[in-house]
Amino acid sequence: MERTFAIIKPNAFADGNSGKILGRIYEEGFKVVGLKKLYMSIVEAEGFYHVHQEKPFFGELTDFMASGPCIVMVLEAEGAIKKWRDLMGATNPADAAPGTLRKEFGQSLGENATHGSDAPDTAAFEIGYFFSGLELL
Ligand code: RTP
Ligand code: MG
Repeated sequence: MERTFAIIKPNAFADGNSGKILGRIYEEGFKVVGLKKLYMSIVEAEGFYHVHQEKPFFGELTDFMASGPCIVMVLEAEGAIKKWRDLMGATNPADAAPGTLRKEFGQSLGENATHGSDAPDTAAFEIGYFFSGLELL
């Protein structure tokens, strides 16, 4: 079994789509090991997305992630990292396949509804950034 880290981003939370996204997560067979709502500060968003700090979109990205509440989750499944990224779809909702979460709930490249870890090392960092071991029992 593998674990990945996922976010229902501020646009999807504000649009009232958290329930539908969670429904898809359960339908696809993930176990929700951790889940909480939080309202990230800019500093917390900058730390979370530190790998992108040199990118031109870093300010836009961190402002957006701190623009409203979101839901952070730890999802468990066989091949969870790839399985969750497949369910999310392409980064830009305009390029995402029909039936994916970003196609259905994303508005733009920035406001693309969900986040998912991209590799085992980033999943470990991201899970530990928002959850303690006790929250994942
Ligand atoms: P995420 O980390 O959020 O799951 O998305 P991802 O792996 O599919 O994409 P990544 O390259 O890690 O980019 C992180 C987030 O930055 C925003 N972005 N904006 N304006 C731009 O050119 C641009 N490029 C990326 C997206 O919201 C993306 O999810
Ligand atoms: Mg990424």
